[in-house]
Amino acid sequence: MHSFQPYPADLLEINPFTKIGTEWMAVTAGDNKKANTMTASWGTIGVLWGKNVVSVFIRDSRYTKEFIDSHDTFSLTFFDKQNKENKLALKYFGAVSGRKEDKIANAKMHVDYASDGTPYIDEGNLVLVCRKMSATKILPEQFIDDAIDSTWYKDKDYHTMYVAEVTEILAR
Ligand SMILES: Cc1cc2nc3c(=O)[nH]c(=O)nc-3n(C[C@H](O)[C@H](O)[C@H](O)COP(=O)(O)O)c2cc1C
Repeated sequence: MHSFQPYPADLLEINPFTKIGTEWMAVTAGDNKKANTMTASWGTIGVLWGKNVVSVFIRDSRYTKEFIDSHDTFSLTFFDKQNKENKLALKYFGAVSGRKEDKIANAKMHVDYASDGTPYIDEGNLVLVCRKMSATKILPEQFIDDAIDSTWYKDKDYHTMYVAEVTEILAR
């Protein structure tokens, strides 16, 4: 297991657009009995309800959603972008469902646990430990831009938006 250190939020210097949108992240949830992870490239980092928060957008069909819904916390793991193996693993985590395979083991990666027991991917280099604050189902009647529904939801597999407090940042 790698040695992660707590990292102060005040010192975090990341570009959220590229960090999430280009480099991607692994959303991991579960516990020490079973955890699952999936790739996400949609999300936000910011401030809401007096907390440092993230939001992630998880479609109904994702197995990871079952783990997020049944636990109070989840994590976001970011990886060294120079390492091609990491990108391959993220492509795999984003292409195959954990319903069919043990994705983490197949990618030769490992689960480690934050101090509160939240699972994350040990091969990452930055982890945001997140406590769920709200879960909001995205519905077609909410869209102001009509193009969103026809572009992104042809199959009606809508996202749920989870807003979560960042309770701990781990870095190595
Ligand atoms: C680059 C990339 C980004 C993705 N971003 C998201 C996302 O933000 N939300 C989402 O629901 N699915 C996203 N996916 C799709 C899931 O990662 C994919 O369906 C995955 O196989 C789900 O795994 P699971 O069923 O084990 O949870 C993305 C996939 C890739 C490759």
